[in-house]
Amino acid sequence: MSREDDRQASAERPSDPTLLTDGGTSELATVAELAKRRGFFFQTAESYGGVGGLVTYGPQGSALKRNIEDRWRDRFVTRAGNMELSAPDVMPEPVFEASGHLDGFDDMIVECPECETAHRADHLVEDSSEHEDAEALGIEQIGELIGELEIACPDCGTALAGESVDEFNLMFGTDIGPGSSQPGYLRPETAQGIFTEFPRLKEYARGKLPFGVAQIGDAYRNEIAPRRGLIRVRAFTQAELEQFIDPEEDEPAIEAVADVELPLYTAPAQADEGGQETYTVRKAVEEGVIESAWIAYYLGLARDWYEAIGIDMDRFRYRQHKAGERAHYAADCWDAETELDGEWVEVTGFAYRSDYDLTNHAAATGDGFTVFKQYDEPKTVERPGVDPDMSTLGPEFGGDASAVADALASLAASEPDAFTGDTVTVEIGGDSATVATDVANFAVETVTETGEHITPHVVEPSFGIGRLFYSVLVHSYETDEVDGEERTYLSVPAELAPTFACVVPLVSNEPALVEQAEQIRDQLRDAGLEVAYDESGAIGRRYRRQDEIGTPVCVTVDHESIEEEPTSVTVRDRDTTAQARVPVTELRDCLLALRAGTSFSDLLDRDAVTPV
Ligand code: ATP
Ligand code: GLY
Repeated sequence: MSREDDRQASAERPSDPTLLTDGGTSELATVAELAKRRGFFFQTAESYGGVGGLVTYGPQGSALKRNIEDRWRDRFVTRAGNMELSAPDVMPEPVFEASGHLDGFDDMIVECPECETAHRADHLVEDSSEHEDAEALGIEQIGELIGELEIACPDCGTALAGESVDEFNLMFGTDIGPGSSQPGYLRPETAQGIFTEFPRLKEYARGKLPFGVAQIGDAYRNEIAPRRGLIRVRAFTQAELEQFIDPEEDEPAIEAVADVELPLYTAPAQADEGGQETYTVRKAVEEGVIESAWIAYYLGLARDWYEAIGIDMDRFRYRQHKAGERAHYAADCWDAETELDGEWVEVTGFAYRSDYDLTNHAAATGDGFTVFKQYDEPKTVERPGVDPDMSTLGPEFGGDASAVADALASLAASEPDAFTGDTVTVEIGGDSATVATDVANFAVETVTETGEHITPHVVEPSFGIGRLFYSVLVHSYETDEVDGEERTYLSVPAELAPTFACVVPLVSNEPALVEQAEQIRDQLRDAGLEVAYDESGAIGRRYRRQDEIGTPVCVTVDHESIEEEPTSVTVRDRDTTAQARVPVTELRDCLLALRAGTSFSDLLDRDAVTPV
């Protein structure tokens, strides 16, 4: 095939089925089609055939995504008084050795012997059985189930029984710099870029807990089978907050969210085939339904935030992870889930990560991952210790002498009674070393301490911006009938809309009208509003185009706008299609009020505004 034929073939290739733009009629597919047509998102490098799981946000999509991220920053950074950082997307291998991702960040893969397509083995089992959480089963069991359930390759129908099921690490590997001396990985979560900087971040927080550090950035996972539009892709944006706390002392400002109602689907309810129940934050904490007050606090804070960005609260719940389902670092975990196409999809994970990450980075690198906790009053304590005679240990243990001394020190702290006999034995790299007690020089000192070093615990809300973005689009997708024609519109909150207003001159062939419309457009842009301008086609079609991308208002410049004093325009509301006449001098203020949340019907109460 020539290069030209090849290009032709790729142009004719059907759109990526994983992005759902191949003609499906499900709710997700309908929105994915609109998204592609109107510039929200589409498959990356489609002219080269595209790559499954890589998605580009178009002009409308970038603006909507940025607005969601800005709302997140406003709520979880600015108003919460947290810090924000921006770390690189690539990090060296030892970071992911310490974090556990190198060993533990795997999914189960099975390949079709005929068409060679790779599949998520646990998802195949879930799709063919009642198992809802097959990820928690081992690879042997999944292999057996594939045979028992007679699962076939979804792409070509070949039986998969007997094919090997393997662990597949989801990280994208690379080399940092030329050569292979410094292997690195694209980060599979933004969180590690915060944990690794803890020694510096605690200085910025002046060593005082609690403090939170947030980051909005891209994460990369080499998903075995990307699917369902933006729900499972290989590069996606996370907005993560790492809340560092002293687990014994620090309490969240729970009163601020105590009365927020949470739709909870607890692990026991899942085990008993029960349903979700509504709890206030206060009740959920008091009754121990949510173990960590910090997790409950963030579930409360986030619930109102989801509603504000346009998630339908009748299609939303918090689901607790069952024991076998949790990530390798998580002691307790709740997911925020939205319902899309009749299935529940995780959009945010709220994990109690305990001291897992900081302890592991400390073990890998040394100091700095603790904070000094000052006591209210100095404490007098008995501190057992050793002062080994190195002139004896040196000749006896050679190069292992200092390791023996360290082991003696640890033993003195943990088991002082071990030093009551004539000799004491410690383990060094699998060998025993026996030392005379008087060479170890064991003693108990009485010391006064003003505080201690503690390793903070971490509570982490981890938001997936792409899944939220998709949920907002799906939940705001509406149809109705206007003038006998079906109309589609996105009822996204005004504050989030990618384009806030579109200025439309009634006709495009009257210079005075066009000039007035262009002036109004520029004034509104100067006021900081995202404003489009459209003079092509019938006015009804222009309105429909804006409705489809969720533009809250259209500003129409007609003959009254230039012929009568005071000059005025009509403002049309997206959701109701109602119109009002607004003096040009009042327009800026009216639109800023609408963007800040004033409803169109409240706008009609203003003296200067006249319903049309
Ligand atoms: P899933 O079980 O659906 O794979 P996860 O439990 O692996 O999700 P987390 O590791 O908790 O997800 O990641 C935090 C957030 O990042 C998720 O709530 C989700 O919104 C987002 N996320 C994770 N993986 C992907 C992906 N492949 N594509 C899009 N978003 C993702
Ligand atoms: N930081 C949570 C996750 O991405 O796994």
